[in-house]
Amino acid sequence: RPRISIGLIPGDGIGPELVDSAVEVLQAASADLHFTTEDGGADTFRRTGAALSPESLERIRTAYDGVLKGPVGLPDVRHPDGTEAGILGGILRGGLDTYANVRPIALLRGTVTPLRSTETGIDYVIVRENTEGLYLSRGRGVGNDRAVADQMLMTREGTERVVRFAFELARRRSGAPADGVRRVTCVDKSNVLRSFAFFRAIFDEIADEYPDVQRDYRYADAAGHDLVADPGHFDVLVMENFLGDILSDVGAATIGGLGMCPAGNIGDHAAYFEPIHGSAPAIAGRDEANPTSQILAAALMLEHLGDHATAVRIKDAVTRAYADGQIRLLPNCRPKGGTKAATRAIINAVDTDQAP
Ligand code: IPM
Ligand code: MN
Repeated sequence: RPRISIGLIPGDGIGPELVDSAVEVLQAASADLHFTTEDGGADTFRRTGAALSPESLERIRTAYDGVLKGPVGLPDVRHPDGTEAGILGGILRGGLDTYANVRPIALLRGTVTPLRSTETGIDYVIVRENTEGLYLSRGRGVGNDRAVADQMLMTREGTERVVRFAFELARRRSGAPADGVRRVTCVDKSNVLRSFAFFRAIFDEIADEYPDVQRDYRYADAAGHDLVADPGHFDVLVMENFLGDILSDVGAATIGGLGMCPAGNIGDHAAYFEPIHGSAPAIAGRDEANPTSQILAAALMLEHLGDHATAVRIKDAVTRAYADGQIRLLPNCRPKGGTKAATRAIINAVDTDQAP
């Protein structure tokens, strides 16, 4: 039987317990997986002086079929310039050239949204540009009295490929907005900033190649508004790195919280999968964190590998565990019975599904 090899980066804070949960669910859903753990993150930085070794990066690039990463970073592990030393965004997203950060925002049955009305449902995907934008030149140009730093970088090639990725996703994805119209929304601030005008002009060029997909525009501030006021409008959204970071957390709030949201970092030659939230060190090791984002990240990973059957089995199990009330969330998105009980509920739903 073919074995699928998965590299795991448990990470910091709640990372290890979340990755443990995801592995248990993966094992319940498929017998074909085997796992290898890689060291990475703030704790690794503290011990070794590097957040990820070159050997680990090379294995992550080449040795595994799929890579599942937990949240990384600890607030007190910092560089002298004040930025965090234990985060892997630059090393992994840049190093693997995973230029599309794919963040599905979907409201599950049985979960609670803070929105007044969700008659139209919520089911869209944010495609966050992941290798350029405002995050590419962190920390330069900071003096005592003023900071002129962190230049925006947008390249033609980098913008073209992520916009194309968004249109391809709109064509093939199974979810849909309320009106069923396939659309890609370009989110930018092109009314004020020239870099975003450049982004939008390239968006338009690529959109010409996809006459079957509706093109749509929102300024970033209005996008934040509409993700709350009219989420059913959206199908696929494409945007610059920093905007995508912020607006995906807005989207997360509308479907119950950050604990519900997985992300895929996808390039042409590598990919890895993770929750969109941080490592929550205050609740690490206390069996309190919501494992759903990590488990859904595992499903995204399998989907990317082409194991659709197992991916669907896991997603269905998560949906059923919530819809049947086996998992209930506190207002802070943590599961009432704890991490392990929530994991157990999802595994039970997988097993029920497999019963003859
Ligand atoms: C995310 C996270 C990271 C980011 C942090 C941890 C560096 O917030 O994946 O959204 O800013 O990209
Ligand atoms: Mn973020």
